[in-house]
Amino acid sequence: MSLQLLITGGAGFIGSHTCLSLLEAGHGLVVLDNFANSSPEALRRVQELTGPQAATRLQLIRGDIRSREAVAQAFRAAPIDAVLHFAGLKAVGESVRQPQRYWDVNVGGTLQLLKAMADHNCRTLVFSSSATLYGFPDQVPIPEKAPLRPINPYGHTKAAVERLLTDVAASEPGWRVAALRYFNPVGAHPSGRLGEAPSGTPSNLFPYLSQVAVGLRPTLQVFGADWPTPDGTGVRDYIHVMDLAEGHRAALEVLVREPPQLLTLNLGSGRGHSVLELVAAFEAASGRAIPYQVVARRPGDSPTSVADPSLATARLGWRTRRGLAEICRDGWAWQSANPQGYGEAH
Ligand code: NAD
Ligand code: UD1
Repeated sequence: MSLQLLITGGAGFIGSHTCLSLLEAGHGLVVLDNFANSSPEALRRVQELTGPQAATRLQLIRGDIRSREAVAQAFRAAPIDAVLHFAGLKAVGESVRQPQRYWDVNVGGTLQLLKAMADHNCRTLVFSSSATLYGFPDQVPIPEKAPLRPINPYGHTKAAVERLLTDVAASEPGWRVAALRYFNPVGAHPSGRLGEAPSGTPSNLFPYLSQVAVGLRPTLQVFGADWPTPDGTGVRDYIHVMDLAEGHRAALEVLVREPPQLLTLNLGSGRGHSVLELVAAFEAASGRAIPYQVVARRPGDSPTSVADPSLATARLGWRTRRGLAEICRDGWAWQSANPQGYGEAH
């Protein structure tokens, strides 16, 4: 089955890896991205990896999801069967300083997209939600039915979009929606050609320690070694970005095949790793020492966040296949070959 898909934010970290996976599955893609946090070079490399024939199935529209005209142009580019909606802003600290901008892009942008979808009779949507919705969880591993208690503006915008999607799906028959709550997406395509290219100083652990390993930054700061975890450092559920890409493919197939529904699923591995475990695994993969110092806890952090991914496995027949060693191997292949990310073009 070959579909025509609109991919918002398709040039970004998760979007670009998912575009590659979807092209390899034979789908046609219209990518809508304004490159607010990405480079066209990522899509050029997606095309390079798929080869010239599949590459013709990717069309790019440079535009903003908040622009009615840009979204309409994307829908005119091909008869769209389904939308994968990655576009959005994702930096927690920035969202505290600029909440209006986050609400405008993440919530306003989604509203604009939903209007265009209804106008074009397209009611199949996969949305990038986040485990950030769970705030400080009472229970780990975290099931989807856990209470939603976001603790920052970024999380509030994701909760608002999930609420919006629930209301829209209930308002008329025919909506097929998947809200996928990602845990901690990391790693890179094994070719070393695609990966995460954060602009400025990374705020997340994996890109930061990759930059320390390659010599761009002197030391990793470990935010607290006094957490109630086995070695005292924070525990997270790290998911290889290619496992995440495959999760999108699986969700799309289920949405298209089954009767209309709203699916809300955790995408994670179900396994937790501490900061120090990740440091050790990255040192082993890279052969480089990663100097670190323990500093105070970061405000807003929780000790442990691990998915209960059993619903995704049951509903999608999907589970993660790549562990910490592959995550670090592929992350290092990317970082060592592209120390400046996508370079000048970024
Ligand atoms: P990213 O920043 O690499 O990708 C987002 C893409 O959206 C970028 O290409 C950016 O240029 C584009 N974009 C931003 N604003 C836009 C706008 N107004 N119009 C058009 N395009 C716009 O981020 P990512 O890590 O690939 O995340 C993708 C999605 O997944 C986001 O919605 C994010 O909130 C969500 N998510 C990410 C993580 C994570 O840790 N990376 C975790 C949970 C959820
Ligand atoms: C962060 C966001 C969360 C978002 C998620 C995925 C915060 C408070 N939370 O979560 O909303 O959904 O990213 O994008 O920003 N760490 C260090 N040193 C560093 C960086 C991180 O020790 O330089 C530690 C953290 O304390 C944590 C772990 O590493 O224990 C992972 O941190 P990070 O990669 O930022 O992810 P989250 O904290 O899960």
